[in-house]
Amino acid sequence: MPSMVSLLPTTRCEAVEGRTIRVDLADTDWDNLGFGLVPTDYMYVMKCTQNGTFTEGKLQPYGPVELSPSSGVLNYGQGLFEGLKAYRKEDGSILLFRPEENALRMKSGAERMCMPSPTVEQFVDAVKLTVLANKHWVPPVGKGSLYIRPLLIGSGPILGLAPAPEYTFLIFVSPVGNYFKEGLAPINLIVETDFHRATPGGTGGVKTIGNYASVLKAQAIAKAKGYSDVLYLDSVHKKYVEEVSSCNIFIVKGNVISTPELLGTILPGITRKSIIQVARNQGYQVDERLVSVDDLLDADEVFCTGTAVVLSPVGSITYHGKRVEYGHRGVGVVSQKLYCALTDLQKGITEDNMGWTMELN
Ligand code: COI
Repeated sequence: MPSMVSLLPTTRCEAVEGRTIRVDLADTDWDNLGFGLVPTDYMYVMKCTQNGTFTEGKLQPYGPVELSPSSGVLNYGQGLFEGLKAYRKEDGSILLFRPEENALRMKSGAERMCMPSPTVEQFVDAVKLTVLANKHWVPPVGKGSLYIRPLLIGSGPILGLAPAPEYTFLIFVSPVGNYFKEGLAPINLIVETDFHRATPGGTGGVKTIGNYASVLKAQAIAKAKGYSDVLYLDSVHKKYVEEVSSCNIFIVKGNVISTPELLGTILPGITRKSIIQVARNQGYQVDERLVSVDDLLDADEVFCTGTAVVLSPVGSITYHGKRVEYGHRGVGVVSQKLYCALTDLQKGITEDNMGWTMELN
């Protein structure tokens, strides 16, 4: 491991159940983390050449990477990313949430994008190594989490349209707070009726980088009008809800929770999958089905899920100029309950009966 440490950690003492524990932290403003990049000390890099096998991954100081101008990722968008988080537990240790799920999703995305991918074991080991090398950047309890961003890119040079001859798997991390500027308060969405995010048979169901570039325009227009983000409709019937630019969506009606089913045009979110399980464990009926705009506007509560957004309550939806409000600007009972159940598990506050968390030493 390189000997570089960019900033000397400060030691912070936290009172936990009458004991005082010492946590070494990097020097940053922990009280004002948003979802912006805070450069940390190390990143992980592993390459794969012709035979499809990734080897000799290693940590190196966080910084620019050298890339051929004719690389597959720069020219033809051959790239995938993942997002997962590490949380600080009250005893100072660090918890990862379902990293194997991200490894598996990257594997199936890589297949769709004609790329080789690291094995699940390589992926998880690399995540652990990167987090531990940057452990001073895992926020103290209550201040946020360490966002982990694995990337898989076609880094080899190519000119004619074809898969790149070389691939790079890279992980960088950044401490983060809340994703939306609203914090934990309900967000305001607008239903997009002109732009679509995905089409049947396309790549909407994989975490390819291009899916995110293509939503920037609609998102920018919505933000300029004061909305938090955009909710997309299916591109065929233009009436079924798909997802928000950066997260999945759920509606609550009575005791039934519904979310758009996975038909290849929406992202199979790991938080989505976890919330479905958590809600069923709590006795709710959860339906994965076609959710129409009418269902959405008629719901009691609406919330979004994602690694970055966690579980974000929706305060209003605007569709063709008509604004529908939920929960009278407060957080709905079901949204609140599920948010607490999920985050208590992720932070190690409640016992993990699901085997979803992985403790790092
Ligand atoms: C995540 O939630 O991890 C994502 O990948 C969404 C991204 C736009 C921040």
